[in-house]
Amino acid sequence: MPENTDKTITIILATGNPDKVKELRPMLENISPLFKVTTLNELGIEADIEETEQTLEGNAMLKARAIFSLCSQQLPFMIALADDTGLEVDALKGAPGVYSARYAPSPAGIAPTYEENVRHLLHSLNGITNRIARFRTVIALKGSIPSGETCFGFEHTAEGVVTGNITAEQRGNEGFGYDPVFLVESTARTYAEMSTAEKNTLSHRAIALKKAIADLKDIIECHSISLTSTHTHQ
Ligand code: IMP
Repeated sequence: MPENTDKTITIILATGNPDKVKELRPMLENISPLFKVTTLNELGIEADIEETEQTLEGNAMLKARAIFSLCSQQLPFMIALADDTGLEVDALKGAPGVYSARYAPSPAGIAPTYEENVRHLLHSLNGITNRIARFRTVIALKGSIPSGETCFGFEHTAEGVVTGNITAEQRGNEGFGYDPVFLVESTARTYAEMSTAEKNTLSHRAIALKKAIADLKDIIECHSISLTSTHTHQ
């Protein structure tokens, strides 16, 4: 266990969605001994954050800020990492987009299931030949890292986009959400026909996260913090 005096930075996955945790976590483990990755579930935090912004970037940052505020008192060196994702379908003028989680009609206050959203999408595209779509993810970071005898606060976002086509029927049993109907252009397979490890080599979320990690390393190294140990150079 790291001691209180060290400079370990806790990365909190600011999502209550276990499907997102399953993809994000393996990509963040083993980047550096400086980072300890944890989840809201492991911290015993139940946060129902309403996504009130009109953009993925706005909602991702809203979630990162909310979790940062909840946890920063307990954890001086910490980064809240949030993801907001949307599926944009050309023939639907970019819908469901930022409303991807709430696409199918459902009673007030009850979110539709993944299956209901997928069925609603296939129904909306019935008879339409233009099936071009893209997944877009914005990863937002809100952090506080060691800097000399004090700490440095920052906010940052990174985006990942993957183009594909919406299939006529569901294909594959892996993944979550719209994965069974999103045919990745470069592979001619749906995400649901890939393992998590394979999806993580090419997905919208993986692209955004790789960019966010590269940017985070730059921010950290600018503050003379070594990524190879839990102690600073100073
Ligand atoms: P959120 O607002 O970022 O939580 O995601 C909106 C919705 O998009 C989710 O409820 C899922 O239905 C869908 N979604 C998010 N990420 C993915 C993905 O990687 N594959 C398939 N569907 C996804």
